[in-house]
Amino acid sequence: MISVENVRHSYGKGGRTVEALKGVSTSFGAGTTALLGPNGSGKSTLMNIIGTTIVPTEGRLFLNGVLVGRSSLEEYRSQLGVVPQHIDLPKRMRVCDVLSYLCWVHGVPKASAASVIDSVLERLELADKRGSRVGDLSGGQLRRVGFACAMVHQPSVLLLDEPTVGLDPEVRLEIRHLIARLATNATVVLSTHLLEDVSFLNPAVVMINAGEKVFEGSFEQFVAALPAGGDVRESSVEQAYQQMLRGGAASHQGPLAGESWSEQR
Ligand SMILES: Nc1ncnc2c1ncn2[C@@H]1O[C@H](COP(=O)(O)OP(=O)(O)OP(=O)(O)O)[C@@H](O)[C@H]1O
Ligand SMILES: [Mg+2]
Repeated sequence: MISVENVRHSYGKGGRTVEALKGVSTSFGAGTTALLGPNGSGKSTLMNIIGTTIVPTEGRLFLNGVLVGRSSLEEYRSQLGVVPQHIDLPKRMRVCDVLSYLCWVHGVPKASAASVIDSVLERLELADKRGSRVGDLSGGQLRRVGFACAMVHQPSVLLLDEPTVGLDPEVRLEIRHLIARLATNATVVLSTHLLEDVSFLNPAVVMINAGEKVFEGSFEQFVAALPAGGDVRESSVEQAYQQMLRGGAASHQGPLAGESWSEQR
């Protein structure tokens, strides 16, 4: 489990300070957690803090209850697999060479690299693309190669930044199935705008708005917070999302009003 405690982060922008995260505490346990929020709410900032590419202005990060500090940073990073939104790999490289390179980067022993690559390609249904050049892959295949790159060192945590954006509906569905499979034995944190992803995956939900956490709980709790008599043109997940943006669960007189979200997970 990954936890963040009172994480704040500010960026300097054109002589002024943008407070991207205003003291967020939350946790991401086994299985999938969807990190939701509108543009500019701080999702990528939080993902980058968990991924250790940003050092927060304030706050602490824990893996399984143990503080991630200077001395444990390398060990923590070895547990992480990161799939960025834009998979940018050299177009002329073959898939197997990309993965061999990543095995070397992650210190996978040379003797086991070939079998690691075989098993990752098998798991991602990419075995027939082992010799293909990156530039010849479809969008969905490239995304799956991005997942493979993040998995050669068998991380226990996968960070996926908007993994289904920009893909056609069929490939989106394929990627959702893949995420569901991966989450059976890993902690998966998925930032997304697409509420269909959330409905499909039935994940834990953390929602932030303007740098503050406005919801944390199960998918059922998220949907249960939707207002009565909502607009029938919107799905229940869309209505719950809008409700959180308007005032959050605290103002909702549903079954969870007044309770602490974090204690329910
Ligand atoms: N490098 C940066 N320099 C200055 N301000 C930044 C930087 N990165 C993000 N911000 C600001 O921090 C806030 C949070 O941005 P962040 O990218 O974390 O949001 P997000 O939820 O990921 O948005 P999106 O859904 O558009 O990807 C925004 O106001 C954004 O303008
Ligand atoms: Mg973002």
